[in-house]
Amino acid sequence: MSFSFNFFNPVRINFGTDSLQEAGKIARKYGTNALIVTGKSSMQKFGVLDKLTCILQKSGVNSIVFSDITPNPTVGEIDMAAKVARTNHVDLIIGLGGGSPLDSSKAVAVAAKDNISVWDYLKREPKSALPVITIVSTSGTGSEVNRFSVMTNTKTGEKPGFGYECMYPKESIIDPVIMQSMPKYVTATTGFDVFVHSLEAYTGSLSNPIADSYCEKAFTLLKESLVTAYNEPENIKARSDMAAASALAGLAIDSAGVGIIHALEHPVSGNFPNIAHGAGLAALTVESMKLNINNKTTKEKYARVAHIFGKIKGNKTEEDMAYELLETVKKILTVLNLNVSLKDLKVNEAQLEKIAKEAFTTMNFAVLNNPVQIDENNALKLLKDSFK
Ligand SMILES: [Fe+2]
Repeated sequence: MSFSFNFFNPVRINFGTDSLQEAGKIARKYGTNALIVTGKSSMQKFGVLDKLTCILQKSGVNSIVFSDITPNPTVGEIDMAAKVARTNHVDLIIGLGGGSPLDSSKAVAVAAKDNISVWDYLKREPKSALPVITIVSTSGTGSEVNRFSVMTNTKTGEKPGFGYECMYPKESIIDPVIMQSMPKYVTATTGFDVFVHSLEAYTGSLSNPIADSYCEKAFTLLKESLVTAYNEPENIKARSDMAAASALAGLAIDSAGVGIIHALEHPVSGNFPNIAHGAGLAALTVESMKLNINNKTTKEKYARVAHIFGKIKGNKTEEDMAYELLETVKKILTVLNLNVSLKDLKVNEAQLEKIAKEAFTTMNFAVLNNPVQIDENNALKLLKDSFK
């Protein structure tokens, strides 16, 4: 089989224990007046925000803080942060936290350059963006190393993803020490997000040998360390492995995209913002895999992932191995306490039709990348099967 693909990623990754200490030196390369975009509580609670502002100050970088980013960031929050950036003439954006602040930091970097709402960039490519540095506190999003941003329109419930070349962070600081304070539920949901990023990039239409190699390494790290990081929050090796897995999967989706699980999850948590992205994925994954497993290439790839995850006993066919992966996923979900349905997550059944439709408007690129062609009827059936 011959390949044709495009692979590009310009993000400098600064990975390692206590790499947060380098933040001042790194920031100074890009500016002296930074806006830190972060969430409302955890980075303050664990002292990371204070530490960061001190480190920046020592290198001559002033900072102001925008800490109103919520778990499913809204257009209003991003527009407000962009206004703060413009008013204060900042020359650098630092995203600090999990997927939501990091996604927002890239959107703010774009919106700060113009006086229009960030929503308008869904249809119009921005000319430029302020430089962005990401400092990630969870291991799941992949946002730390790619160009993507996701935002929610509170008026319509739409939750599209978007990403342009000017939105790549200049640098990413990945310090596993910060992740030791991650609560168990966040470790589970973000860790499962890494798994789904790897699975969807590995099996999507855009999959390619470079992204595949990243996914395979991510699967190995997930196998070794996801459950350990969940059970032993302070285990620095497990935290490092998961941080590396998150970055690898983030690079993979930047090139190879996501599929139907993400296409359906975005409208789920867009319409029900109390649902964590990884929990929504957990509810949708098994049924989506049952559909995709019928594709020949996907079956082969599921079998390969099963080999990475399992000890192979006896003579098993490729078909057996592919189905074994489904069992592995169910076991992982049980261990992580994420064996949930959309009903358990309090999705309103009457909204399933709206959710199915939105997958084809705001996340159509992910629908198209899925290895099996999906129409609105299949999508609705998947949602109904994931609701039970
Ligand atoms: Fe994700």
